[in-house]
Amino acid sequence: MTENSEKRVFIRTYGCQMNVYDSERMSESLAKAGYAATDRAEDADLVVLNTCHIREKAAEKVYSEVGRMRQLREQRGKGLTIAVTGCVAQAEGAEIQRRAPAVDLVVGPQSYHRLPELVARAEQGETALVETDFPVESKFDHLPEERSASTGAAAFLTVQEGCDKFCSFCVVPYTRGAEESRPVDSVLAEAERLAGQGVREITLLGQNVNAYHGAAPNGAAGSWNLAQLLRALGEISGLQRLRFTTSHPKDMDDDLLAAFAENPKLMPYLHLPVQSGSDPILKAMNRSHTAAEYLDIIERLRNIRPDMAISGDFIVGFPGESDADFADTLKIVTAVNYAQAYSFKYSPRPGTPAAGVEFHVPEEVKSQRLEALQQLLNEQQLAFNQSCVGRRLSLLLERPGKEDAQLIGRSPYMQSVHVLAPQHRMGQIVDVDITSAGPNSLKGKITMAQKAA
Ligand code: SAH
Ligand code: SF4
Ligand code: F3S
Repeated sequence: MTENSEKRVFIRTYGCQMNVYDSERMSESLAKAGYAATDRAEDADLVVLNTCHIREKAAEKVYSEVGRMRQLREQRGKGLTIAVTGCVAQAEGAEIQRRAPAVDLVVGPQSYHRLPELVARAEQGETALVETDFPVESKFDHLPEERSASTGAAAFLTVQEGCDKFCSFCVVPYTRGAEESRPVDSVLAEAERLAGQGVREITLLGQNVNAYHGAAPNGAAGSWNLAQLLRALGEISGLQRLRFTTSHPKDMDDDLLAAFAENPKLMPYLHLPVQSGSDPILKAMNRSHTAAEYLDIIERLRNIRPDMAISGDFIVGFPGESDADFADTLKIVTAVNYAQAYSFKYSPRPGTPAAGVEFHVPEEVKSQRLEALQQLLNEQQLAFNQSCVGRRLSLLLERPGKEDAQLIGRSPYMQSVHVLAPQHRMGQIVDVDITSAGPNSLKGKITMAQKAA
């Protein structure tokens, strides 16, 4: 390809890890169609905004970004195709182009394999291109098999997409559609390719990853659950660490709990959102579990694997949440003792059942509750980090630090750990003595034996 014909794509990713994974796959399929990736929108011929619809703030970001891209297009007087993908694309569809006519095409998450063709049509002047159907063919069968060479030592791999849980606050069942699991064969093949490219750690992704039930391999009847899939992944040489996210308490079965003891590659860290500690609120959220049931899972997990680090998601100010309900949330946080957590103010989402009810909690009450919750969660996170000082942990060195000769790696418990190490150790797993801890990261020293290695 001559330099003139080389086109460039700039992809901006919002939202969750699945969007990160999807952006990588879109980048690969666009590369095949002649678009090299750039991290500068100024150089791009095509901009892809891969959006998130989970809260109002996230969804609104796309419109200001489209405005910036439109300005860029006008300033430089050269063509620039603007595509909106992801969950806003799915939720708002043609409405996006009514609100932001600068957008050339809108593509929902189930149609990414058609992106190159749609981009080509937009470039030929076709307007109002909107592709938000849930096609019968699976996109996974059509996206390129090769992962790009830039894949680092840790990679995401989507094994399940969509959600049938319909929590009353959540847009995901509408934006990602019904729960669908990828066949075991297809997951193992992608994992083997990744391992062959030097990937040491894989995080399996799914909106309800522990509900995984992919078609059994080699044409065998039936399906495999997540514990079975993790066992098979554990046998791939080169792969040394496995994780999965996000899980729902309802699908945390005994097999999967046992995997934390039986599968040596499965890291002792679990992200298990509870959202609230109040049973009436959990019921109104349609979470289909109680606070006691959640605590029971945590207790069983810790019996199986005492050093298990737990992470969670919380929503404060769900409609009808009283002071007593919120106190129950603080209570469950105290009981669990989280290593890490994400917490949000409830954001009413169009089309979800909770948005239509009465008794919305005033904004200032939401703010106060969020502050109180985050203070407790931050204390727990710092205490957990401090409890690691003096311990020897394994690290997968993943990225350069800010200082010279510094690398940042992840501990088994997902903490970022800074160490002094030469660049060539990137991608390796090393043992590190933890020397200090802050709220968001740790510092450590590579052990003497490893230094000599
Ligand atoms: N099971 C999903 C959850 C996706 S949403 C997964 O794969 O990660 C991530 C988190 O966003 C949820 O756990 C919830 O805490 C929060 N969230 C979802 N809808 C929300 C809303 N309407 N307002 C505030 N927070 C919300
Ligand atoms: Fe949303 Fe609930 Fe499904 Fe998670 S389980 S994606 S919070 S509906
Ligand atoms: Fe956002 Fe869609 Fe992920 S709404 S959190 S990008 S599944």
